[in-house]
Amino acid sequence: MISVIEMLGIKREYRMEASTPKAGAPSNADTVVVHALRGVDFFAEAGEFVSVMGPSGSGKSTLMNILGCLDKPSAGTYFLDGIETSSSDSDTFAYIRNRKIGFVFQSFNLLARTTALENVELPLFYRRANKDEKKLGARARKERAMQALEEVGLANRMDHFPSQLSGGQQQRVAIARAIVNDPAFILADEPTGNLDTGMSLEIMGLFQQLNKRGKTIIMVTHELELAAYSRRIIALRDGKLVSDINVEDQRDALKDLAVWKKKHARLAEKTHEL
Ligand SMILES: Nc1ncnc2c1ncn2[C@@H]1O[C@H](COP(=O)(O)OP(=O)(O)OP(=O)(O)O)[C@@H](O)[C@H]1O
Ligand SMILES: [Mg+2]
Repeated sequence: MISVIEMLGIKREYRMEASTPKAGAPSNADTVVVHALRGVDFFAEAGEFVSVMGPSGSGKSTLMNILGCLDKPSAGTYFLDGIETSSSDSDTFAYIRNRKIGFVFQSFNLLARTTALENVELPLFYRRANKDEKKLGARARKERAMQALEEVGLANRMDHFPSQLSGGQQQRVAIARAIVNDPAFILADEPTGNLDTGMSLEIMGLFQQLNKRGKTIIMVTHELELAAYSRRIIALRDGKLVSDINVEDQRDALKDLAVWKKKHARLAEKTHEL
């Protein structure tokens, strides 16, 4: 069987000029090479929900950027849906990124002076159409964006600006933006890094729902408690994949959220009594 993600021997080196070059030294003597990924093999099937863990600097974001076609490896091969990404021309590369992948970042990355609806419509403006596809008109774009916002439970916040939304709501707008083009993959780099427990559970619940509907999700997290909502956990260390395990009994985020809310409400009541 062919995996939808097939990475073999992926390396990524960053070459940097040293800040204090020595006078008279040959120019390449002052180049520092950072080995961010040192030969990663990684396979994933359609419909998986994978957590990527590992200490700071171990190469998680570098791996995500390559998975999401934001960056190319220095060595190795990466097949996404059967397409060899590293040797594809820039148009194919951009098409894959735009149509197959939805990104969610730790810092939401929403445009501040733009409403939730307009933020979600944005990828549709830049939508790269196949030769046989028609461009989407304004009405179709708006309808799709509204539908995506409904899917994340924000139908009643479409005209709000990011500053008028809570952190969890902003991240849900970002998720609506990630799914508006109906990508097969959702890549999320520490999506709950800036959120409290309740909001993090909401986002995990949303990911689990999307995963049940067939989306393949790959998510970076530092928290084992959050990785427990995915179905597989891989760990990186010093640019190498050091473990790959299946989650035996995946936790249900919406159930845990309900329990958390009750406990929270009880505590809130008590603190008012004090
Ligand atoms: N643009 C860059 N130029 C040079 N070195 C970089 C660059 N991006 C990352 N690195 C280096 O590559 C290594 C891996 O970085 P990466 O951002 O992938 O780590 P990470 O696992 O995502 O860490 P964190 O948990 O802190 O986000 C680090 O040593 C980092 O300093
Ligand atoms: Mg990172």
